[in-house]
Amino acid sequence: MSNSASKPIAVVTGASAGIGAVYADRLAARGYDLVLVARRAERLKTLSAKLLRAYGAKVEVIGADLTKEEGLARVEKVLATNPAITLLVNNAGNGTLGSTINTSDENAASTIALNITALTRLTRAALPAFLSRNAGAIINIASVMALHSLPITSLYSGTKGYVVNFSRGLQEELAGTGVRLQLVLPAATATEFYEFAGMPLSAFDPAVVMTAEDMVDAALAGFDQGEAITLPSVHDRALWETYDAARATLFAATQTGEPAPRYQAA
Ligand SMILES: NC(=O)c1ccc[n+]([C@@H]2O[C@H](COP(=O)([O-])OP(=O)(O)OC[C@H]3O[C@@H](n4cnc5c(N)ncnc54)[C@H](OP(=O)(O)O)[C@@H]3O)[C@@H](O)[C@H]2O)c1
Repeated sequence: MSNSASKPIAVVTGASAGIGAVYADRLAARGYDLVLVARRAERLKTLSAKLLRAYGAKVEVIGADLTKEEGLARVEKVLATNPAITLLVNNAGNGTLGSTINTSDENAASTIALNITALTRLTRAALPAFLSRNAGAIINIASVMALHSLPITSLYSGTKGYVVNFSRGLQEELAGTGVRLQLVLPAATATEFYEFAGMPLSAFDPAVVMTAEDMVDAALAGFDQGEAITLPSVHDRALWETYDAARATLFAATQTGEPAPRYQAA
């Protein structure tokens, strides 16, 4: 039995289901105590009892709606003030799959508040403490839909594109410090996500859907390998390198200060 008092603590948002619940399990198995956040506190309590039995992990449950000021502020305070926290997994996220005009105002606002605002505020709450100790890690869960937008994913892809750009800039800011940020881009994963999304998982070819366990285990393998960006389902890593090199080349080509000849009067 390990000594719980000396364990590092990981905060996992959206731990009541799917990918977040698997992160909680895997991190407890790795020797972390946990702070688990989601609205359904009963589910978190059930998971916490299981993790205590299985791994001796001590779990603090925070039943909080991260789209609401009160819930967000509570988790920010924990991140800013508990010095045993060394890892933040910004996992909570949702998305309605449908046309932009047919998505309700409420769902659009919830997706932006959760995927963008909550992730940003929790990251900003954790960073000063991590930087003051020059140690700690943040795992931000984006999506492959950050790289691709379909007529039914405009809002969701937009929010996940934010997660990618925000995280990549932060990685540059953190260079040379002892704090690191891993960006994870899952593809279709079998979770309750599709219930909120309004599209059944059965609409997908089962061959392209990963289990949440495989997704998290692959993402943590990428974390262990020191990857900055992990695409668990992409077998050929060189595809990402080519894509990112093309992006950098295009950006460099924007720095001319002159309209391109095709836009100049003949
Ligand atoms: N599943 C996929 O195919 C897939 C693919 C790419 C990326 N992702 C990303 O992976 C992450 C996890 O998704 P998942 O597939 O595991 O979905 P999930 O099974 O629906 O789990 C989402 C988690 O977020 C929590 N959550 C939702 N709204 C919340 C709120 N307002 N406040 C606090 N917690 C909230 C949920 O808990 P409560 O309902 O109890 O609050 C739940 O624990 C998301 O960021 C998602 O965008 C998923």
